[in-house]
Amino acid sequence: MINSAYTPPLDLVRRPRRNRQNAAIRALIRETRLHADNLIQPLFVKDGNGGPEAIDSMPGIERLSIKDLIKEAIQLAKLGIRAVALFPQIDPTLKDAHGKYAITDKNWFFTAIRQLKIEVPHVLIIADVALDPYTDHGHDGVLDPATGDVANDETVHILTHYATRLAAAGADMVAPSDMMDGRIGAIRDELDHEGFTQTSILAYAAKFASAYYGPFRDAVGSTTEKGTPALDKRTYQLDPANLREALLEARLDEDQGADILMIKPAGLYLDVISAVRLATTLPIAAYQVSGEYAQIHAAARAGWLDLEKARDESLLAIKRAGADIILTYFARDMAKSLRNS
Ligand code: PBG
Repeated sequence: MINSAYTPPLDLVRRPRRNRQNAAIRALIRETRLHADNLIQPLFVKDGNGGPEAIDSMPGIERLSIKDLIKEAIQLAKLGIRAVALFPQIDPTLKDAHGKYAITDKNWFFTAIRQLKIEVPHVLIIADVALDPYTDHGHDGVLDPATGDVANDETVHILTHYATRLAAAGADMVAPSDMMDGRIGAIRDELDHEGFTQTSILAYAAKFASAYYGPFRDAVGSTTEKGTPALDKRTYQLDPANLREALLEARLDEDQGADILMIKPAGLYLDVISAVRLATTLPIAAYQVSGEYAQIHAAARAGWLDLEKARDESLLAIKRAGADIILTYFARDMAKSLRNS
């Protein structure tokens, strides 16, 4: 038995535990806080009028028809989430090697954006710019027949058209996720030329060739065979080993006119977030990707992690590292829980 009467106090000037002794003190000194204002909900959109479709590897996330997308955006706005990032799931019959459907007038995704903007005008629409939902091979651009690799300049050319059409449809921000060289400058030029000077560019500045995009590729069907999430994008996405190269990419995107710089994935790249934070004055976004979301859910389902605590900690860490904005599939749930806390 410990009898404190016989234990002389240690002669300590600093007792950091004083600042942790109760909830009120802990709240007073808390350095980082999550807020719905800083969260962006990624949403998967499908054509037609069918009901929501569950995505096995992403519990709680569904592919939504335009009608349900509008309902969801209204719900999110009520919870304080005023920005959504949209990803279309394109029917395999509309895909080809060039992703041609992307820039055709009849692309239903433009209609979806247009309707969402009309119905819920105060919610920001962020549209991803890359060809992977549209190509039958699942790469973010068109392939060079000689090398089989993604052809940079040709892809940039197509993506600038695509970005301008997204802006014309009503996207408030375009978010190039393709990692081609020079695309931010080319898109900025074209947007300005077409009169979309107020359309922002949220640049995926440092996007790593990550194993954690697997569930997303299931969600948008960007792999021909289900369960082949390991599509190799290493000739354009960054090597997970490289921090300096990430800083170079961030600088190039800033110099070419990006409004916000994004790092992706988030939780495994906290050092990159904090390094970019020191290197720029631009706002920084981080994308907690599908695999980060899926692994927390999977462990929680197995009873190995507490879902809400692991979720909160994962997001707090991303913010603490220096991200102003977080794209996360947890956005809706997080906003709900912030509302109740
Ligand atoms: C594709 C794109 C990907 C993601 C966003 N845009 C996947 C990829 O690069 O293969 C991943 C998002 C996620 O995993 O949540 N341009």
